[in-house]
Amino acid sequence: MPERCGRGASQAIHTRIIEIEYVLPKGCLVLKKNDPQFPSSGKSVDQVRNDLNRILERDLTFGSGCILGSMCSKPDSFGARIFSEQLEKNIGDPGLHPALAELEYNTIRTIGDLLHHRDCVGAVVSGGTEANLLALWTAKNRAGKSRREVVLPATAHFSFDKAASLMDIDLVKIPVDRENRVCIDQYRQAVCPRTMALVGIAGTTGLGAVDPLSSISELAMKHELYLHIDAAFGGFVLPFLESAGYPCDQSDFDFQLPGVDSITIDPHKMGRAPIPAGCIIYRSDAIAGHSTTDVTYLAGGYTRQRTIIGTRSGASVAAVWSLIQSLGIEGYTDIVKRCMYMTHWLKDRIAEIEGIETVIEPVINVLGIKPTGMTPERLAEKLRNRGYALSLFPGFLRITLMPHLSIVNLSRFLHVLEEEAAK
Ligand SMILES: Cc1ncc(COP(=O)(O)O)c(C=O)c1O
Repeated sequence: MPERCGRGASQAIHTRIIEIEYVLPKGCLVLKKNDPQFPSSGKSVDQVRNDLNRILERDLTFGSGCILGSMCSKPDSFGARIFSEQLEKNIGDPGLHPALAELEYNTIRTIGDLLHHRDCVGAVVSGGTEANLLALWTAKNRAGKSRREVVLPATAHFSFDKAASLMDIDLVKIPVDRENRVCIDQYRQAVCPRTMALVGIAGTTGLGAVDPLSSISELAMKHELYLHIDAAFGGFVLPFLESAGYPCDQSDFDFQLPGVDSITIDPHKMGRAPIPAGCIIYRSDAIAGHSTTDVTYLAGGYTRQRTIIGTRSGASVAAVWSLIQSLGIEGYTDIVKRCMYMTHWLKDRIAEIEGIETVIEPVINVLGIKPTGMTPERLAEKLRNRGYALSLFPGFLRITLMPHLSIVNLSRFLHVLEEEAAK
């Protein structure tokens, strides 16, 4: 039985904020019935489970088919089971789990193989944010103190703003064209003696666009600059597009481009892995060596960490490895094929709805829509009032056609969209 977008679901996303505004989306209700107390004695596990389920009842679920704007999805059940079986493993102390450490090494090289460079190094990290932070940290340490600027598209994910603030570096944001790809002439002109790194995106957060990455790679080579590719979302889509029957002339994004030093690719987005699972992949050990930390005191003995966080989920490593082994190229191609089919199906139906336009021709399974008779903010609010969670970007709404969705879900959504666009 498909889960429905019930009253609880819509309440979860559009009632009033009472407190902890900083962690909740605008409009979430937090009932302040009782001040939480640390319990003096424990309750039975059944009671705790019931209480928990009751507390979390208002949350949206991927199974409802109402989450249309997330870049995450319901994890694959096999991956989730493996994850739950390996919970005690801390890959931050690899001496305790040498087999798991080897598994991580091989997982990174396997993903490197997908990205046309098996001889790579890296780590399974908490997500795209940590991977992007690591890339800029590495670039900064490699560049030395006199270079503080990073040239990147204006569409770059906000993790780069976090990185800039944390590391006191400057971002030079370059506008994008009508197809949402960075304007390469302006990008070239922005490179100067202060530039420490270039960033390109393979699957932008807003519209799934792919920047002109071979030109950016040439630029990096010419000026001997660090180049990082953010393929957090696109990394598990672009390699499978052609075999899925959706060839794309912008699919060159990986280590085949000689200027690329590192890539972010997130298994917890289109890789079907449980959260947390991102990956940072470096072309070589020498590059990764700019952001390593020696740790001497761990129970497992000396280690050299390549991540920002110390204690790290070994369960993530086990789940990512297992999913790649169980799905393979064929499995991922099937997933991408289904998501791309839904993307084009939805785009074609939306073209028949008066008052709604699509923003660009989708490259991957991300679709931007905008209303013609009201603001995107107003449409987002109306859809939220009907229980649907889409992402709101300046000027448009984003729909991500993820594995948890189906044509049945999308048909229901289309009725609601048509009604709300007409009002
Ligand atoms: C292109 C891109 N990079 C990085 C991120 C950050 O990933 P995470 O939320 O896993 O930290 C996102 C998230 O949507 C993204 O779209």
